Amino acid sequence: SGRSEYNLRSPICCIMGHVDTGKTKLLDCIRGTNVQQGEAGGITQQIGATYFPAENIRQRTKELKADANLKVPGLLVIDTPGHESFTNLRSRGSGLCDIAILVVDIMHGLERQTIESLNLLKMRNTNFVIALNKVDRLYGWKACHNASIVKAMKEQSRDVQFEFRTRLTQVVTEFKEQGINTELYYKNKNMGKDTFSIVPTSAISGEGIPDLLLLLVQWTAKTMAARLAYSNEVQCTVLEVKVVEGHGTTIDVILVNGELHEGDQIVVCGMQGPIVTSIRALLTPDPMKELRVKGSYEHHKKIKAAQGIKINAQGLEHAIAGTSLYVMGPDDDAEDIKEAVMED
Ligand code: GTP
Ligand code: MG
Ligand code: NA
Repeated sequence: SGRSEYNLRSPICCIMGHVDTGKTKLLDCIRGTNVQQGEAGGITQQIGATYFPAENIRQRTKELKADANLKVPGLLVIDTPGHESFTNLRSRGSGLCDIAILVVDIMHGLERQTIESLNLLKMRNTNFVIALNKVDRLYGWKACHNASIVKAMKEQSRDVQFEFRTRLTQVVTEFKEQGINTELYYKNKNMGKDTFSIVPTSAISGEGIPDLLLLLVQWTAKTMAARLAYSNEVQCTVLEVKVVEGHGTTIDVILVNGELHEGDQIVVCGMQGPIVTSIRALLTPDPMKELRVKGSYEHHKKIKAAQGIKINAQGLEHAIAGTSLYVMGPDDDAEDIKEAVMED
């Protein structure tokens, strides 16, 4: 997670959408993992986080742009559940991100939680791109593994191209009914103004994944330099409180900005009042691995934003997910910070 020469932090991208549109599978496709198949009932029930170093993104997008200068150190992607009962987690995820991917199943169009997610994004004025997923389900689709979508579309029969255009038009119309203009990303001259970009994808055969990644990192670096400017001030949110074998009670956090160190005095909101403790271990999964999935952890002396981190410290049993974590500086007044923490 090195700093970029531009001193930007990694953008945080939240992936949202109706249940089973393929959010986790898209991430599996990029990571080369199988998280989705390990989920109970194939349903995501927690917020996840995966860090993609710029180098991996460069590899994955080189067919589209060999010399992509990505300017950001990487991309932190937050996975959210699409099931109707997890509105609070979608809200939490969307509140943390700089940009979002709204996933729509091309065979189903806009569904209930697509619209709920869209409204969360509108409310916070968050920019997003639409992944029009499952294009491989168009009848007669010829797989072009991990190809750019323009190249893959050229390989398709007239019938497949016709079905694609028909379904795309339907989805564009449904977005219009929600007051949102959309357009295929490579035709969209008004991205960031009033028209949102659609990237057709398949999480099974990988078509459109290079397009989606390149669009995200280039767009954020181009338009969000001020927002992504690295700052020393720690901005950090607790995602989950978990007991982990060999580590005791830990918290999974998203570090949005700043730097955390082993030994830092931290204050988090607890059920019985503020919890003041010190960081015993700062752990991350390997790059391109999901934070919420048990695996091996890398230990760090310090970590810079943006990153998904597991923190091991004493007394975290009653920490409350969704609240902010504060770091006590040498000049800080402990009572002020304790008060601020409990205001969450
Ligand atoms: P929740 O997190 O539970 O809301 O679902 P999700 O949006 O993460 O969807 P998930 O990744 O669990 O995928 C749901 C189902 O759709 C799984 O059976 C996937 O294998 C399948 N699927 C996902 N993406 C694609 C795709 O691009 N093509 C095809 N054919 N199937 C897909
Ligand atoms: Mg999922
Ligand atoms: Na699912």
